[in-house]
Amino acid sequence: MGGRGPEIVPIVQGPAKTRRFFDRIAPWYDRINARIYKREWLNRVRSEIRGTRVLDVGVGTGFTTGGLPTAVGIDLSQEMLSRARYRGDLLRADFTRPPFKIGSFDTIIFAGSFYYLPDANDGARIAAGLLRPGGRVILLSPATRLLAPFVRVYGPDEYRRILEGAGLRLIRYDRLNWAACLVLAEKRVP
Ligand SMILES: C[S@@+](CC[C@H](N)C(=O)[O-])C[C@H]1O[C@@H](n2cnc3c(N)ncnc32)[C@H](O)[C@@H]1O
Repeated sequence: MGGRGPEIVPIVQGPAKTRRFFDRIAPWYDRINARIYKREWLNRVRSEIRGTRVLDVGVGTGFTTGGLPTAVGIDLSQEMLSRARYRGDLLRADFTRPPFKIGSFDTIIFAGSFYYLPDANDGARIAAGLLRPGGRVILLSPATRLLAPFVRVYGPDEYRRILEGAGLRLIRYDRLNWAACLVLAEKRVP
């Protein structure tokens, strides 16, 4: 994309590979995650949530929204879901075929999941459709190209293009450290 040389095809992409990957690592996921996912990132993500109707895409073991009574967590991996500690609703579902009505959510969170979607433009469009006008998307994603052999890595300009193309306004792109970024966007009010 955009003059960065030949495109690298990541090892984990598409729903079938992603589901198999997370089904396999589910028993160790929380221990691995505790070493990567920093407490201040979690606090940042939670502090950016608006409203009560929250969808956590790729909820995994419930790390980010597990304590919220009105959140809905979806995941491809039954093995991840079966380990989740969650107060809200959990559902095995593929975000690219969401079992929800349009405009159902105030906030949609992708904490470590947006970059597994097979098509980022489609993913952003689906998220925009599920949000109410003014609703927001919170993404916690990798920011270093060193991770590109494993997962998709988008830069700030790509996030802007992807999100704005779906009718979302990029609010901010914050680099959290050498490896990760937090991206916030809002659905435009007509
Ligand atoms: C790195 S884990 C993040 C888990 C959790 N959000 C956290 O912060 O610990 C990514 C999760 O996204 C899920 N996932 C990836 N693509 C998905 C999709 N299309 N629909 C639903 N879940 C998906 C995976 O199965 C996996 O459990």
